[in-house]
Amino acid sequence: MPRHLLSLLDLTREEILAVLDRAREMKKGPGIYRSRILEGKAIGLLFEKSSTRTRVSFEVGAYDLGAHTIFLTPGVTQIGRGEPVKDTARVLSRYVDAIVLRTGSQSILEEYAEWSTIPVINALSDLLHPCQILADLLTILEKRGTLDGLEAAYVGDGNNVAHSWILASARLGFRFRIATPPAYAPSDEVLSKLDREQRSRVVVTRDPLEAVNGAHAISTDVWVSMGQEAERDDRLEALAPYQLDARLVALADPEALVLHCLPAHRGEEITEDVMEGPHSVIFDQAENRLHAQKALLEFLMAEPEWKKKLASR
Ligand code: CP
Ligand code: NVA
Repeated sequence: MPRHLLSLLDLTREEILAVLDRAREMKKGPGIYRSRILEGKAIGLLFEKSSTRTRVSFEVGAYDLGAHTIFLTPGVTQIGRGEPVKDTARVLSRYVDAIVLRTGSQSILEEYAEWSTIPVINALSDLLHPCQILADLLTILEKRGTLDGLEAAYVGDGNNVAHSWILASARLGFRFRIATPPAYAPSDEVLSKLDREQRSRVVVTRDPLEAVNGAHAISTDVWVSMGQEAERDDRLEALAPYQLDARLVALADPEALVLHCLPAHRGEEITEDVMEGPHSVIFDQAENRLHAQKALLEFLMAEPEWKKKLASR
């Protein structure tokens, strides 16, 4: 059975930490980390939505490890003309060695995984964005030195990025406080995956001050995610009090890290001064998509020594 990454809950705590360690090692240099561990392998990048970071970092990361990629969109494949997921998944499984899929419904990812004989990686769905949070954790780990005792916060829309933060907290055991307007609170579908102890570490509030108070890392994301454009006016009005500005950052830990998965809308979810200010690690975070995903590709598509050691523990 192939391993998939549809959600961070598909990895154990130890596996997430090992992937992050491996990513740090790959990033250390000197120079760009390159190997032939995926030589002769192909990765299908099937993107039903726009992307800059995820697409480019997966393409470059795959090449760095010896694999090649094929970028596919609904418009240039039979997917756009209604070929069923279960057929596409079985056909692609016979040509390529992994599928990186950006789509809307999480159930589509699950259906791909059900029919695929190769790893399926969630490159963003409406519900989750696990690859993003691997990079975010890597950024915190390298800047702060440890994830121990981490108190992370999120202000804004309780969306796919927020949901993956919640699942990261559940898996790794750090404290997470999220402030959203009630209408845009995180989904029960995600919160219900947490057991009592995990749930006790997640604070869901409507008060952004409560969320950021003393936090070591504060994240936000766009108020209008892909596919929600028709809701723009309502969202901007409801989310206006949740803008990540200097006043909120001042309430966090003095060394707090400011994160944003990008793309950012300055003047909406984040101010220009916070985005470009001394707490911001946003562009290192974007770079870390590459390193985290290279480690993830090794983990899902090959049998590197570090993975064997993990299995034998
Ligand atoms: N953060 C992120 O996933 O960016 P892209 O939409 O550009 O891939
Ligand atoms: N929440 C955003 C993330 C983009 C990387 C979206 O889904 O559009």
